[in-house]
Amino acid sequence: MKAVEIAEDVFWVGAIDWNVRNFHGYKTPRGTTYNAYLITGETNILVDTVKKPFFDQMVERIRSVIDPKDIGLIISNHVEMDHSSSLSLAQKMTGAKILASKRGVEGLSLHYDDLDVQEVQDGQEIRVGNLTLRFIETPMLHWPDSMFTFLVERGILFTMDGFGQHLASLKRFDDEVDPSVLDYESAKYYANILMPFGSQFLKTFEKVKGLPIRILATSHGIIWRRDPSKIISRYLSWANGETKEKAVIAYDTMWGSTQRMAELIAEGIASEGIETRLFRISDSDRSEIMTEVLDARAVVIGSPTLNNGPFPTVADFMVYLKGLRPRGKICGLFGSYGWGGGAVKALREQAEKAGMIMLDDLEIQYVPKGEKTEKCVNYGKMIGKRIKANEMKL
Ligand code: FEO
Repeated sequence: MKAVEIAEDVFWVGAIDWNVRNFHGYKTPRGTTYNAYLITGETNILVDTVKKPFFDQMVERIRSVIDPKDIGLIISNHVEMDHSSSLSLAQKMTGAKILASKRGVEGLSLHYDDLDVQEVQDGQEIRVGNLTLRFIETPMLHWPDSMFTFLVERGILFTMDGFGQHLASLKRFDDEVDPSVLDYESAKYYANILMPFGSQFLKTFEKVKGLPIRILATSHGIIWRRDPSKIISRYLSWANGETKEKAVIAYDTMWGSTQRMAELIAEGIASEGIETRLFRISDSDRSEIMTEVLDARAVVIGSPTLNNGPFPTVADFMVYLKGLRPRGKICGLFGSYGWGGGAVKALREQAEKAGMIMLDDLEIQYVPKGEKTEKCVNYGKMIGKRIKANEMKL
């Protein structure tokens, strides 16, 4: 297995995980990569490592360029174990010093007992041979410890989770892969990993916007070299909660009544000229639904009542949605109930905590038939009009 040169004296030496299908609850049908980078020079530098089972793959790629024992410095941009769990092996193999942010030093000590790690400051620059490394703390992208490292002379920003995608590929660059796949996997990654941290991304952007960035070297998936500003613009749009005229309806059903409501509401929304996507939660992957939620202006959630509460699959989805704190959305809730109801009320409490602007609910006893079908369509039309009004414009 060979390294891939990404710039003069800079090589990708990561690992490809073709088979991972669940990344802490996020479905990854296209696998992923754990990207590590080697910078060669007077002192050879390793930027991040890979998930421990892939350590040998990383070493083999390094060996295609230099003797791995000749690494003199390791930079740990992020403590999460998909990037740090090989650090102990790497330090034992090389004897190299490890550099991390202040929170990184703390975080690594809470994971491992045998690392020798030195702290670097936010904004600090170090000279290594004829190269300059600048460290930029980026808390919560995606953990408190996270930092970017900028290789000044090459214009390469090592962005760990930022701008990543779960996409296994033998291609390394954005101009070598299907752009529609890359766009989708980038959005999916942001929606399911980084969505709660939009305001932190905006602060990070202020720190890096003046840098002469040529390459965004991510820790997952493809490296951005053709036009890094394009993915940065998408991140700014997502972080600002920008949406389009689009609704996502996510529901589950017990005897088909809530499903019929969902379909009628969808017709009502679509009749206002709004792009409308419908998902039965138990037949869908929640990370796929969240990808559609990312740029939707309305999230409409339906649940039948079971034992005076929401259907378990819908409750699960609501917990996931709430944790990701979507910005700039309106939310409608609906459902069929038999006698006492309770699903919509319980969901409303959660949706309000998620920070969405709540619309009126729509509940129907048992089966939506006769005049009740019209009620569902009209509810959808109301949502469509509210989407067009764009009252959440930021
Ligand atoms: Fe890829 Fe937050 O780790």
